[in-house]
Amino acid sequence: MRVILVGPPGSGKGTQAKQVSDRFAIPHISTGDILREAVRNKTALGLQAEPIMAAGGLVPDDLMIGIIRERLNQEDATAGFLLDGFPRTVVQAEKLDAILEGNEGSDLSVVVLLVPDALIVNRITLRRSCGACGSVYHLENLPPSMEGVCDKCGAPLVARPDDNEEAVVKRLGAYHAQTAPVVEYYRAKGKLKEVDGNAAVDVVFERVMRSLGV
Ligand code: AP5
Repeated sequence: MRVILVGPPGSGKGTQAKQVSDRFAIPHISTGDILREAVRNKTALGLQAEPIMAAGGLVPDDLMIGIIRERLNQEDATAGFLLDGFPRTVVQAEKLDAILEGNEGSDLSVVVLLVPDALIVNRITLRRSCGACGSVYHLENLPPSMEGVCDKCGAPLVARPDDNEEAVVKRLGAYHAQTAPVVEYYRAKGKLKEVDGNAAVDVVFERVMRSLGV
């Protein structure tokens, strides 16, 4: 099972990706998570990516393609994977095709989560994430049982540095300008599944499963 989850910022990619990867026992590969870890560890990649991410822009294609090529070469990705946040440009999509070429890439499914722009700022500015285990909450829709504390591991919940309104507007702009053409790229290849992401998390998960034929 090879799945790509696409959608605007805050559309629920990370939330759904965790459940889908658990269901299929495939690794959840999030380029946002990989970059945030690099930022935390102050690696060369992290130092380059940090200001770009904070401003809501996209990290250069060549860096992202190198990261994905390396990650998909790891053994746990040979039987399948779920990509969350990649590809984000048509150049990335074309390079991914080249990476997967000759690698039985025909079972690739691309699921786009459709959520109106009007809901995005609320979803993102009220998001809180666990810095330890990565669990994601929303202060209104999916609140933790105890304020500011992760239900799963008890670590403190934090807001991401790029989750302010100004950066979200830029991220949405980048999505429409650079990632929406990726959706059309996969539509033209007959790989696209469109899922209405404007519903409760469990309902969206059922829709994603149905779109994947499960
Ligand atoms: P990334 O981490 O990929 O961010 P994003 O695409 O902007 O998406 P988010 O993580 O913000 O949202 P999501 O769709 O995962 O939603 P979530 O499930 O958390 O990338 C960050 C940055 O890294 C980019 O801006 C860029 O700079 C860089 N980058 C990453 N990949 C790159 C690439 N390939 N190329 C170049 N640069 C790259 O949900 C959001 C909130 O809504 C949560 O609070 C959640 O609880 C809530 N929620 C989820 N589902 C529902 C629902 N059904 N109903 C109600 N609330 C819901």
